[in-house]
Amino acid sequence: ATTTDGETADVLVVGSGIAGCAAALEAARGGAEVLLLTKATKPADASTDWAQGGISTTRGNPESLKTDIIDASDGTADPDAVDTLVENADDAVEDVLVDTLAVGFDEADDGAFDYTREAAHSEYRILHVDAATGTHILRPFLNYVDDHDHIEVRQDTAALELITAEGRVHGVVSDEESDGHPIYAGATVLATGGVGALYGRSTNPDDATGDGIAMAALAGADVTDMEYVQFHPTAYAGDDPFLLSEALRGEGAVLRNGDGERFMDEYHPQGDLAPRDVVARAVETEREETGEVVLDVSPLEFAAEYPAIAEKCRDRGIEGDEIPVAPCEHFLCGGIDVDERGRTSLDRLYAVGECARTGVHGANRLASTSLLEGLVWGLRAGEDAAGEVQRTARRSGETAERDPEVVEAPELRNRDPDLPERFAAEKFTRLTQAMDEYLGLERDPEEIARASSVLRRLKGEVDAYIRTRTARDLYELRNASVVALLIARAASENTESVGCHYVATDADESVPESPADD
Ligand code: SIN
Repeated sequence: ATTTDGETADVLVVGSGIAGCAAALEAARGGAEVLLLTKATKPADASTDWAQGGISTTRGNPESLKTDIIDASDGTADPDAVDTLVENADDAVEDVLVDTLAVGFDEADDGAFDYTREAAHSEYRILHVDAATGTHILRPFLNYVDDHDHIEVRQDTAALELITAEGRVHGVVSDEESDGHPIYAGATVLATGGVGALYGRSTNPDDATGDGIAMAALAGADVTDMEYVQFHPTAYAGDDPFLLSEALRGEGAVLRNGDGERFMDEYHPQGDLAPRDVVARAVETEREETGEVVLDVSPLEFAAEYPAIAEKCRDRGIEGDEIPVAPCEHFLCGGIDVDERGRTSLDRLYAVGECARTGVHGANRLASTSLLEGLVWGLRAGEDAAGEVQRTARRSGETAERDPEVVEAPELRNRDPDLPERFAAEKFTRLTQAMDEYLGLERDPEEIARASSVLRRLKGEVDAYIRTRTARDLYELRNASVVALLIARAASENTESVGCHYVATDADESVPESPADD
């Protein structure tokens, strides 16, 4: 592809979750023509759509939310980033979700919002729509941006590579043509979500393959905190896992081990509402020692108050009040390093949502802060990107600066040198096996080293084929293998257990604390 091919947008957004929608909305409000690409073919393919518990507000007390975020992160969250979040939280929720989209958050009998609570929150401050909040936010949001005169939403379109020149990002090559379709942009915003597909069990959609993180890293952007992969403590323990929101425990559900005993008080002063990393490891320990762990929802009006989760239970044939649970990959706390406006280390490249590392989560994320972070940083990045485009236009007289002498899209080819059928699927299975086995909830240095060697070999095999075929599954595999290696490298460089990066030592094995031993 040459620079004369392709098309141009002021602001290009890649990804259609809450962060991508927010960036598109704010960039358009700032006067930019926006193109939003999503590889999803239906809205439910974005992780936002799967978010259950809700979206935190400060409820007028930003300091209290800040304290909870920092405590849950084991003291590792960046206080300045947390300030940015809590200072902008309530305005963002009110402006976009309440006033613009009229999201029908649950209300109490008196018509006031019915705030809920989740683990490690000291107050009831979370807005929700039963426990299907993501769906109730994302669907109106996507409709809104799709109807917007200055935003084009293009579904079923994947970004394959960033277009870069001299440290500046000029857009992406998409998979709309068999040899790649260049889309040049004044500013590019990555909002591609997390890495759930790298693990066998995840609460994310299957296409969460770390695309934005991989593309940014390959272009030289700084990527940080990749070892902090958060596991949710309560996903359904059977096949085809689904999330059992922390809001259930926030409202009174309790964990019980295989002996029918509650156990969380043995592990943490906050008991069932301890930070997520602590609960996840406790659940895993109790499963190993007592055979299973269940979430006992008998203290709740479960079916009436949480119809979406109750329906999932019915679909899996789960009857009664005790739902078998196990930890499951949930969220990447690290990602592409960004500042308070979502700017990455590469000029004109932004990252927002789960693919970005703002510093808000440190080593362990507090519940119901991911939608909020995506919203706040999405708006801030969208505003900055639109401003960047205007500044460029003033300087150069063009809408999206592009000097054809300098900027050339990478050439992709669509020839297939005997690529075996199912190549990508088979390699992907090997990748998830390595991640599950060596880079899961608990790690040890030897396993991390083993993961690195398996993943390096795998990436070598994938690299031999990449750019010879524009097949999306091949690029997803390339992206997943890049991100998996970044996780392995970060895990090997951080030898201390902190937050959701837990490095087991020989000493841990000799003291398996259990209430049964008391
Ligand atoms: C949940 O509903 O438990 C998940 C909320 C979150 O991950 O923030």
